[in-house]
Amino acid sequence: MSELVRRPDDDSNTHCTPQQYEEMYRRSVEEPDAFWAEQAQRIDWIKMPTKIADWSFDPVDIKWFADGELNICHNAVDRHVEAGRGGDVALIFEPDDPAGDVRRITYAELQRETARMANALKKLGVAKGDRVTIYMPMVPEGAMAMLACARIGAVHSVIFGGFSPEAIAGRIEDCASDWVVTADEGLRGGKPIPLKANVDAALDKVSAKGVLVLRHTGGEVAMHEGRDHWYHEFAADLSEECPCEPMKAEDPLFILYTSGSTGKPKGVLHTTGGYAVWTETTFRYVFDYRPGEIYWCTADIGWVTGHSYIVYGPLLNGATALMFEGVPNWPDASRFWQVCDKHRVNIFYTAPTAIRALMREGKGPVEKHNLSTLRLLGSVGEPINPEAWRWYHDTVGGGRIPIVDTWWQTETGGVMITTLPHAHDMKPGSAGKPFFGIRPQLVDSEGEVLEGASEGNLCITHSWPGQARTVYGDHERFVQTYFSTYRGKYFTGDGCRRDADGYYWITGRVDDVINVSGHRMGTAEVESALVLHGKVSEAAVVGYPHDIKGQGIYCYVTLNSGIEPSAELEDELRKWVRKEIGPIATPDHLHFTPALPKTRSGKIMRRILRKIAENDYGALGDTSTLADPGVAEDLIEGRRNR
Ligand code: WT7
Repeated sequence: MSELVRRPDDDSNTHCTPQQYEEMYRRSVEEPDAFWAEQAQRIDWIKMPTKIADWSFDPVDIKWFADGELNICHNAVDRHVEAGRGGDVALIFEPDDPAGDVRRITYAELQRETARMANALKKLGVAKGDRVTIYMPMVPEGAMAMLACARIGAVHSVIFGGFSPEAIAGRIEDCASDWVVTADEGLRGGKPIPLKANVDAALDKVSAKGVLVLRHTGGEVAMHEGRDHWYHEFAADLSEECPCEPMKAEDPLFILYTSGSTGKPKGVLHTTGGYAVWTETTFRYVFDYRPGEIYWCTADIGWVTGHSYIVYGPLLNGATALMFEGVPNWPDASRFWQVCDKHRVNIFYTAPTAIRALMREGKGPVEKHNLSTLRLLGSVGEPINPEAWRWYHDTVGGGRIPIVDTWWQTETGGVMITTLPHAHDMKPGSAGKPFFGIRPQLVDSEGEVLEGASEGNLCITHSWPGQARTVYGDHERFVQTYFSTYRGKYFTGDGCRRDADGYYWITGRVDDVINVSGHRMGTAEVESALVLHGKVSEAAVVGYPHDIKGQGIYCYVTLNSGIEPSAELEDELRKWVRKEIGPIATPDHLHFTPALPKTRSGKIMRRILRKIAENDYGALGDTSTLADPGVAEDLIEGRRNR
């Protein structure tokens, strides 16, 4: 039996009461055109759309607001200034160093700085439709770079600062991006991150015409004559005015690379109008944002959470969003709470992995700080276990405020399943109910639709405005990945249970994707990195339950003949994977084995490898199809001895 936690009593300021949710949800699915035309009214359109939903999942062709024209930067920034709110704070910057300088950037300032950066991009040669790679620390200029691209109609491709030069090069090449915006270094937990040096190493492999470099730490970096420009010098004389380019609703806004079960990361493409309406609407209702509140999402702008809920969603709502450069556990485990206290944060949105790590430190670090301004807590990135939910609710929230457990994906653009703070009671561990317009469906492995309380694979049957439109440069891959498993439906890759109250419980990925500290990783990517190493012959990678990270990375490795396993080699391979992909892909376990369990046709039996990694030997299931059953025995032996 799951526990039911009552929503706080009705608040007269809420955007959505239980009755309103029912009525709005009904309308959103029965009359989607009318519903979304109405939500779209909160956006400033240069040309008001007359076509609203215009999509098909078979064949796959998705459009929303197609004849509308707008500029999302105008909507996120200029519009608020024009409405007399230029003095409101848009972004608060809290630096890595707790004693460092806080910056408060008003909407008026954001407009000037974004326009100046847009002019810098133009001076560099960036034109409408060009792809601009952004590899930045968590500083306001990262958000400004995204907005500057949107202002002039360039397509941003943000790469998380934790990715390696190889990963940067792959992404630059994939979308043929000629331009890069970066900084000298980032700073996390007191340690510099060599951003510019990583860009340089990437640009040894692929070329770029121009690189803008923000001076942030002042650390020394190499500058390539003719290609690299210090932003402060390059933009010093540029105007703080730059017109917003009128964009068609379906013009591309950004590409964001994400991992799948096969192949290289995919460049998920989002377009302008639908994404604007979706992030504006979801932010408004999910966080129930009220004017003047301080909102803090701890994600990085390199992930979709940062795109939708640090930059676009909050700014489209004229909110004040905090940007934090640092990490939860430096200088100590009270940093998040110290920052909440210092900035009087009202809405706090973080990931289960951070909650679990901080939960280990006990109540002490939380109780040192005054968290009385908190009104709402959010969770995102992976299922939150009920124990962590309880701790978050009771210790951080003082048992008095709601939690929104928001399920969504890079491909969905914004929140899809969640409770709304004053519309729904909560069930710890369940994301809750579908957001407006979302029609989830559970299907079994044959594609049979499951009704009522049931468990199966989570599909979405109807498009929503924030849905990704394609994989950049490879529409066929988009169709194959998301619409071919269950023809005519969007398949999320997640398993899910629906209970008798219609609450959704995400059970995790059902494909070869693992979720490590809320970071999505294709096991195939780690495998390709391992086999690139000269001493490795074969590798199979699976996830296993990890107390803090949710899932850890378990690698089975067979070595080339004549190579002996050793602690040194283990270390070498760990470093190798970090170099190939980035620190987030660092293997937790390397298990050397002379052979992998395979079927007679040569297919690796991952199910068995997963069970062994989980230390669950009783449930290996049918091993009779193995070409050599002895391999599994040896692996179990090897696992026991670890
Ligand atoms: C995958 C998407 C959504 C932005 C961050 C991750 C898992 C995400 C939840 C949640 C259970 C969740 C799913 C999903 N996931 N949020 N609240 N409860 N699982 O975006 O990197 O595209 O990963 O994260 O497995 O498919 P992403």
